[in-house]
Amino acid sequence: MKIAIMGAMPEEIEPILKKVGQYTSQEYAGNTYYEAQYAGVELVIAYSKIGKVFSALTASTMIQKFGAQQLLFSGVAGGINPKLKVGDIVVATKLCQHDLDITAFGHPYGFVPGGAVYIETDKRLCNIALSVANSMNKKVLEGVIATGDQFVANEERKNWIGTTFEADALEMEGGSVAVVCNALDIPFFILRAISDAADMDASFSFDAFLESSAEESAEFIMKMVEELGR
Ligand code: ADE
Repeated sequence: MKIAIMGAMPEEIEPILKKVGQYTSQEYAGNTYYEAQYAGVELVIAYSKIGKVFSALTASTMIQKFGAQQLLFSGVAGGINPKLKVGDIVVATKLCQHDLDITAFGHPYGFVPGGAVYIETDKRLCNIALSVANSMNKKVLEGVIATGDQFVANEERKNWIGTTFEADALEMEGGSVAVVCNALDIPFFILRAISDAADMDASFSFDAFLESSAEESAEFIMKMVEELGR
């Protein structure tokens, strides 16, 4: 079983590469793909660059070129649910695209014909995450993640996304990775640690907490890999 671990930014996969220790690397379509063994599991690891297009390309490459049979995403997100504080972990139950808008044709936000507003993550992987959280004595929130090609640093936009999609957190890649994995029938899982509250202080908070929150998320993902290798 080959598992893909992806992030969007270098900071999101550096702790993972550090943990696996030895790896080989290969350049493809403007990204570097790292291959390694960890806890008896074959891994392909990459960061996509920020946004829906780059992340769709990377997820697709990991599956179609590198043969990944499951995909785990590790990274940071802006919190919408007021229960979520910096460093807290969100496990996506389903994802949507908050910036997908053909409402002019009578469709709901986030919908295009042939698609769906929400795509669910793999239940087995979510359950493994809950048992890992339990063993780490860590609380995680299961919830909806909204994705868009936009760094949200605005209370009004954040609240609109929260109410329109009942979203708990927002980021810029999960929804597009979900589309790719769903289309290719690959079980996937999206984990995010909160770096900011998507409000007027978001860019400062993001810069201050990107590294520590990315590490939180990566540590959790590697515990999941250990569990998947058992
Ligand atoms: N990822 C982390 N924080 C974010 C924010 N405020 N907006 C979009 N993506 C994010």
